[in-house]
Amino acid sequence: MNFLISLSIMRKRSFVSMVAILGAVVFGLPTAIFADTVWLSSLDLKLMTTGWGEAQADREISGSPLQINGTKFAHGIGTHAASRMRVDLGGNAKSFHARVGLDDSAHAKGSVEFIVIGDGKTLWKSGVMTGSQPAKNFSVDLSGVHALSLIVTDGDDGSSDDHADWADAAIEMKDGVSAPVALTPYEIFGIKTKGFQVNFQVGDDGRLYQLPVGGRDLNPKLRRDDEMYPQAGDGYVWEPALEMIHADGNTSTALLYDGVTRTNESADRELTRIRFHDPAYPCEVSVCFRAHRDEDLIEQWVEIRHQESGAVMLKRMASTSLLLTTNVYLTHFFGDWASEMLSPITEQLLPGTKVLDSKLGVRATQFSNPSFLLSLNGKSTETNGEVLAGSLAWSGSFQCAFDDNGRGVRALCGINPFDSDYRLKPRETFTTPTMIWVWSGHGLGDLSRKFHRWARDFGMRDGHKTRTVLLNNWEATGFDFDFNRIAGLFAPAKEIGTELFLLDDGWFGNKYPRVNDHAGLGDWQPNKKRLPDGLAPLAAAAVKEGLQFGIWMEPEMVNPKSELFEKHPDWVIRQPKRELELQRNQLVLDLTRPAVQDFEWKTIQEILSVPNISYAKWDCNRYLTQPGSSYLAPDRQSELWIDYTHALYALMEKTAKTFPNTELMLCSGGGGRADYGALKYFQEFWPSDNTDPVSRVPMQWDYSYFFPPTALAGHVTHWGNRPMHFACSVAMSARFGMDLDLNKLSAEDKAVCAGAIRAYKEIRDITSLGDLYRLEDPHQNIRGALNFVSPDQSRAVVFVFQLQDGQNVAVRPQGLDPAKRYKITELNPAPHRAALGTEGKTFTGEELMRDGILPSCTKSLEACVIELGS
Ligand code: GLA
Repeated sequence: MNFLISLSIMRKRSFVSMVAILGAVVFGLPTAIFADTVWLSSLDLKLMTTGWGEAQADREISGSPLQINGTKFAHGIGTHAASRMRVDLGGNAKSFHARVGLDDSAHAKGSVEFIVIGDGKTLWKSGVMTGSQPAKNFSVDLSGVHALSLIVTDGDDGSSDDHADWADAAIEMKDGVSAPVALTPYEIFGIKTKGFQVNFQVGDDGRLYQLPVGGRDLNPKLRRDDEMYPQAGDGYVWEPALEMIHADGNTSTALLYDGVTRTNESADRELTRIRFHDPAYPCEVSVCFRAHRDEDLIEQWVEIRHQESGAVMLKRMASTSLLLTTNVYLTHFFGDWASEMLSPITEQLLPGTKVLDSKLGVRATQFSNPSFLLSLNGKSTETNGEVLAGSLAWSGSFQCAFDDNGRGVRALCGINPFDSDYRLKPRETFTTPTMIWVWSGHGLGDLSRKFHRWARDFGMRDGHKTRTVLLNNWEATGFDFDFNRIAGLFAPAKEIGTELFLLDDGWFGNKYPRVNDHAGLGDWQPNKKRLPDGLAPLAAAAVKEGLQFGIWMEPEMVNPKSELFEKHPDWVIRQPKRELELQRNQLVLDLTRPAVQDFEWKTIQEILSVPNISYAKWDCNRYLTQPGSSYLAPDRQSELWIDYTHALYALMEKTAKTFPNTELMLCSGGGGRADYGALKYFQEFWPSDNTDPVSRVPMQWDYSYFFPPTALAGHVTHWGNRPMHFACSVAMSARFGMDLDLNKLSAEDKAVCAGAIRAYKEIRDITSLGDLYRLEDPHQNIRGALNFVSPDQSRAVVFVFQLQDGQNVAVRPQGLDPAKRYKITELNPAPHRAALGTEGKTFTGEELMRDGILPSCTKSLEACVIELGS
């Protein structure tokens, strides 16, 4: 406070005290008023709510002098039930005192209750008072209190005649401090980005409520089902966000709001922590939000801590429990191996609970996906509608529940509570996985572009770098290779233009050579027959040829037919007394066991330390079906799922940090680990083992709602036996790679591949770093179309993928600079097809976006890639 303001407060206070002394003489009986006393009636009463009329300073509600049971008062506030007032004391008040009762203007009728609350704690209650009662006199201690709430209820019998007086009401302040200030009647605060906002309101009961996203209603009447992070067992009967058993066996939790702290992490980023405590237990919860302003993106997670006499059992701890309006459409993506993301389902949420979940333990997805879209107030399109994308950053079992109680939808997402009871020791903090929410008021296209920008900055490794063109040997050789066969692939790889060679599965195992998927996993020593001098000479040969060299590994797995399993049969995840259930002939190593953590870390280090290895594909080809650990105690078996994923992240983080220049691809029986929990340690993920370009067109479209295409590995293979030009065009709209035996390609296909690689190198800065515009949805059209625009809008590239025969219809790019001129060039045109009619011509961005471009493809399985250059 500056000097002049404090001077004027002092003057005002002396005036208050003079008037008070006069008042004492004329009316007798008022509480003594000193220089630091502030009349409540001197505050801004416009902020006080009333059930009828407007709050009056020094008058009763209808304008006459204040009078309770025959006694007149010069000072005070006349209000009407139900009424609320909040005052900011800044922690500088000493006490509050008043005489309260029903004003005589109500003719001895009415009934009310006066309640005084300090920082959420009830300090005084009058009990229900009626019209004929004399005023009740009270004084409460306000030491350290920041927010004073004054409430008048209707006494539970309706509010007619409830003329309520806070007579002689005054606050005693400490010497020389700032004056108290009236606040909005409820504490309301929000998490805000440029266009998105989530608002919270503190209730009379000290709990925190959320105003539904997409709802128009500010300050609605609060109900328990609007609680911000609802807890099981103490009044909340819907799907809770938090459920725990306290050390004494109590299965209920009650969270009261403590306060909120905000930290600016950068000009664009703010961290908000909302703190809660349970009044009956030493248990604290913080719900945390990191708001990325320009991207309209919020990361949310929850931290739980306690100091009870023993461990607390966490049974359910959602990362988010966002409350939405009704009329919500959910789009989720069901799939299976080789059909990941292929079946988007859009459905209106109706009363009841819709659950998307997985119980796979070591991966999040295969069937359901932890990334989804919620369209608010009706369906959205690419360019219209209010829409949220949600994505849980967790590579283990997850649950997203959309609980519609007819008044609104609560979107809960977090670790799957299924079989996952977790013991939290005193003074340890449990941090939930992060939920990512992205919002747009302008449809799905804008939403994804914002999501992609965040992903490049924070969600993946090296999001601002372009990628090399990769050649993988898997489809070419499978398990059948040796040094010479692989080394023989390098020259053609170089010749065609690829830049990185990835050696896949099959290079290790001696007692049980990895010559098929039945043996060898876990024995990470190069196979002596195939690679007599190890990996180093092969990597060196690749580098000599001008290629980078990458390697496949699956460090979490073991075949029963392996030396590792023979030595450590207890290292695997399995249930005792059950027959071992294999998937792809393999088992998962128990990463909760420190010896396994050491073994896997040593394995990774040894592999990635081989000179000239600069890329690795980290695979994980099965999920958990018999979740048992011989390391964890019998009463801690349910902690396996969570501890596994935490240990996995520790391993991934160490790998990314120790090998900062080694590029990493995430793969899990296809797209099983397509999630932001793991992706932050990787440059890309493998979207699916299905590389048929006819499937990849819709699949890549769906993944692109959440992930930038540069994070999706797109490889050309013979899957589906599609025309090479079509396969190359589809793959090069993602992170381009090939999985072909180049020696077996026809001359024409080889030329098509070489042309695609040349073209990709020209445009990879646009497809990797630019903005994506989805133009024509392949799920609904006979072709799919999209375009990328460079960050400075100087260049763009348009992709058209014809899935069925059709007419030659113009494709209209978006996101161009309307005033700029762009030159049209078809890249790597398909053999035997007429050139574009507009080839080499120049148009303004406005013309191109309005009139479009006629592509060269019209027949099924034709594609066209068009550069719009300077
Ligand atoms: C998984 C991957 C394939 C390949 C094999 C190797 O199936 O998805 O790309 O790496 O493993 O065994």
